[in-house]
Amino acid sequence: MRLIIREDYDAVADYTAKYLRDRINDFAPTADRPFVLGLPTGSSPEGVYKNLVKYHKAGQLSFRHVITFNMDEYVSLPQSHPQSYHTFMHTHLFSHIDIPPSQTHILDGNAADLEKECQEFEEQIRGVGGIELFLGGIGPDGHIAFNEPGSSLRSRTRVKTLAYDTILANSRFFDNDISKVPKMALTVGVATVMDAREVLILITGAHKSLALHSCIELGISHMWTVSALQNHPHPMIVCDEDATLELKVKTVRYFKSIEMVQRSVMGEKEGGGEVNQMPRFVRRFSNQGGETGAD
Ligand code: GLP
Repeated sequence: MRLIIREDYDAVADYTAKYLRDRINDFAPTADRPFVLGLPTGSSPEGVYKNLVKYHKAGQLSFRHVITFNMDEYVSLPQSHPQSYHTFMHTHLFSHIDIPPSQTHILDGNAADLEKECQEFEEQIRGVGGIELFLGGIGPDGHIAFNEPGSSLRSRTRVKTLAYDTILANSRFFDNDISKVPKMALTVGVATVMDAREVLILITGAHKSLALHSCIELGISHMWTVSALQNHPHPMIVCDEDATLELKVKTVRYFKSIEMVQRSVMGEKEGGGEVNQMPRFVRRFSNQGGETGAD
């Protein structure tokens, strides 16, 4: 598990967007070998999308050979509704970049046959060779996509009834009126996310600190579906300082030390330096045999 801790929301967005830009550019996607990207909605990725648009406009990033799959969508909300995930993606990302619309995939919450829609979504993902990198956010209860507490960790794309807490949390987008929030959604499953070759989860804010604690310091549990990450070969969480509030000081220092040692190994100038010039806690941790740059 890589846990990258940054000062605040903006620094998390900067780090993540740069990481995605470099990851896509290094992959050098072509029509025959596209980069397949899983995407979330919500306030967590907004800053990342803003930066990706900036990179695109500056000529540093093209989405011509990127294929996207979104995590989830509400059931029965018109696609044109201001709070539909279709509208969100169009407003925050797709309308500003060069991705061909035929290469974007968002579940249709108004499909006549919702089960079939979910099955076809899984088939489409398989059809393009699986997802290279799944970007995600979480709810305060640790749900990933709409995989609420108690969801099977082997779940696939399906129809889900939303937990009351999620309806409450999302009512802020619906005039704080719970009755306006859709009660059902289509969502990729935990296993759909975990099948991606890399998973990058954004966690910001004190209200998500318990979820981060459960994901990092406790075991894998269906009650915190994001904890399934522990079983993934290449998981990464990018969080802000507020989200670490429930972590032990030792845990925070441990992961910071891994990142600093990694930077030094990579010879990065920014904040890096030789191991013996690092703060004492970093040297202590780096001598403990922790896996440098561990996945
Ligand atoms: C919804 C979405 C999740 C998202 C979560 C957090 O429940 N289904 O995919 O991660 O909200 O949203 P936010 O980033 O706005 O906190």
